[in-house]
Amino acid sequence: MDAKVTQSIKDGMAYERARTGPPEGFPALPPVPGRRYVDPSFNRLEFERMWKRSWVYACHLDEIPEPGSYYLWDRLGSAILIVRGEDDGVCAFYNTCRHRGGPLVKDRQGRRKLFVCGYHGWSYDREGNLIAVRDERDFPDFDRSCLKLISVKCETFGNWVFVNFDDQAGSLKDYLGPVAQEMTEFQPDKIRLAHKAEWDVDCNVKVLLDAFLETYHLKSIHQQTVDRFLDHLGTTIELWPNGHSRMVTPNRRPEWKDPGVAGLPEIATVGEIARDNNVSYNIYPNIVCPPAPTGMPFILFWPKTDNTMLLECIWFSPDWGAGPLPDVWDTRVGNFERIIAEDTQFAPQIQQSVESDGFRGIHLSCQERRIYHWHEELDRRIGREGLPESAAVEQILGPFVTDPYESACVHDQV
Ligand code: FES
Ligand SMILES: [Fe+2]
Repeated sequence: MDAKVTQSIKDGMAYERARTGPPEGFPALPPVPGRRYVDPSFNRLEFERMWKRSWVYACHLDEIPEPGSYYLWDRLGSAILIVRGEDDGVCAFYNTCRHRGGPLVKDRQGRRKLFVCGYHGWSYDREGNLIAVRDERDFPDFDRSCLKLISVKCETFGNWVFVNFDDQAGSLKDYLGPVAQEMTEFQPDKIRLAHKAEWDVDCNVKVLLDAFLETYHLKSIHQQTVDRFLDHLGTTIELWPNGHSRMVTPNRRPEWKDPGVAGLPEIATVGEIARDNNVSYNIYPNIVCPPAPTGMPFILFWPKTDNTMLLECIWFSPDWGAGPLPDVWDTRVGNFERIIAEDTQFAPQIQQSVESDGFRGIHLSCQERRIYHWHEELDRRIGREGLPESAAVEQILGPFVTDPYESACVHDQV
């Protein structure tokens, strides 16, 4: 984070603390229609046009450490085989044999020289080439080169592996834009995988995602935890292209340091904003990441059905050297999971509400504008065709979308 951005965040927090009305010129946000959270046809459009065309996190390079290591990923339904290649590059393929769809692997992780289908034995190399077919004589005019495994776009940002089902998608780095610029200070190419956990939650994925995009709820549901050390009235927000956003919330006492992370190794290049405050990114669509010098979680939100979802929390740490993860991580993860439990406590009841006749839309304050920004981006991804008017949000936040590294309004309306 450069000096100009650092100063603008400091100014932003001071401005937020001092203001007595909404930010100057900021519009009233129209209600977000409840139909977006319950209508199966809307959820289907969302899945096909947004989730299936987005860069999403799949795994960490620690999970595929050597040539031939694989990770089987299926958070968005289709089973994808992510493979470390001979050259250390990473490829992704559908775990789907070109003969009759048999799986090439069934375990979550492992290592193979060849991927041999369990059904009739067709064999593929680590680049997905079909190299051996049992009884090939029985397939007239057979051309193995036409039957490579079907690939899926796969790129890395540091040690984090992302996939995108859309063959036409641009590069991950371009997509991440300012997120990649800023997160470089956390040395993502050195960060290690520390801990993973997941929970089923009974609500539409957007119900819970919304809850992680604002600090307005701190005084109610995190009274004994986050609210004790963060001042939500100082939260400063930036809305970025491609639906990404960042908020920075100041500590109540500037000198406060989290005792739960004492003794952990720190990333030396982290700047003062992330050292002295709480930074939280939303990497669109489904990563919420509050990074700190001692590491960070990716909180991931995955749709399952219209009214169920999976919440995943994956922790990353600076290199702790040889040996097992330091014990202090048990406390750190335990404390964080207590906060996660506070955040999820109302989700099933909110789902019940949005499904009821008593629900007439979501009324957002300017503090909650990252939620509105997220939903505007969703509608841009879906496009106008087939999007029911009664489910759409108005496109109004364009003038407030900026890229701090270009200092320009970059919003591109459909
Ligand atoms: S389905 Fe894979 S070899 Fe038949
Ligand atoms: Fe929360």
